[in-house]
Amino acid sequence: MANQNQVDEDDIDADSPFPIVHQDHQVAQILAVQELQHHLPSIKSTVVIRQLPSQGLSFKIWAAANTLVALLEQYHQHPSNSPLSSVFSCRRPFSILELGSGTGLVGIAAAAILGTKVTITDLPNVLPNLSFNAMANSGTLLLNEGIVDVSSLRWGEVDDMESIGKDFNIILGSDVVYHDNLYEPLLKTLRFFLGGESETVFVMAHLRRWKKESAFFKKARKLFQVQILHSDPPLPGARVGVVVYSFARKGTNGVVSNGTISSV
Ligand SMILES: C[S@@+](CC[C@H](N)C(=O)[O-])C[C@H]1O[C@@H](n2cnc3c(N)ncnc32)[C@H](O)[C@@H]1O
Repeated sequence: MANQNQVDEDDIDADSPFPIVHQDHQVAQILAVQELQHHLPSIKSTVVIRQLPSQGLSFKIWAAANTLVALLEQYHQHPSNSPLSSVFSCRRPFSILELGSGTGLVGIAAAAILGTKVTITDLPNVLPNLSFNAMANSGTLLLNEGIVDVSSLRWGEVDDMESIGKDFNIILGSDVVYHDNLYEPLLKTLRFFLGGESETVFVMAHLRRWKKESAFFKKARKLFQVQILHSDPPLPGARVGVVVYSFARKGTNGVVSNGTISSV
């Protein structure tokens, strides 16, 4: 017997034996587009983000993104007393790149909160939704002197990295460590941006889900100075919360004051 959920809408006529499928399809279409309004009290503005959860993990907002936005807000309100102060304050004026931007919440909010230019990037198939969200917030960005550029940047692809260039002093990433086949391409990308004499720092918000992720951090610690900037309390019903790290070239640690930062 055919699976009703697999019946194509074009196959359904007025006498369809599967009218319920048509209704389900319409409901699914509605649920497939979700608009989220993320209020940014520090700049009295709201960012609007379109999520398309049915299209995959690149089209929804992840918990780590919310933590990073909250820290950016805290930095804006208390620039000398926030978990980001030690790595942000010595890097003004900012030149920011975001890796694996997904819906764009972090990069768009960063541009608006910090009043700076942020290049948001992801895989080519994710760019139409990223561009849509950047455009949807053009008024808020203009008001706050923020600029958002959207570019393709496939981790580990030298051509992509070279065409974006190294003109960034802060790189942001939220929830970019998950599939183990992506660890090496991500580390290669970080080596490109943080290597040589670079003073660039990578600020990454991460929610640990699997033990295997320790392999990523083990390799990362061999290549970079990795420090914890902030830890959220555990999420409801979970043993862990989002942790925010900084990665910097070895020998620099990326930090200008001692603060309460601890090594990983
Ligand atoms: C779990 S999502 C996180 C999205 C967003 N940063 C957030 O926190 O809401 C991981 C993101 O990494 C992107 N990504 C995965 N592999 C990638 C690759 N090889 N190159 C560039 N981006 C990639 C995905 O498309 C996705 O947007």
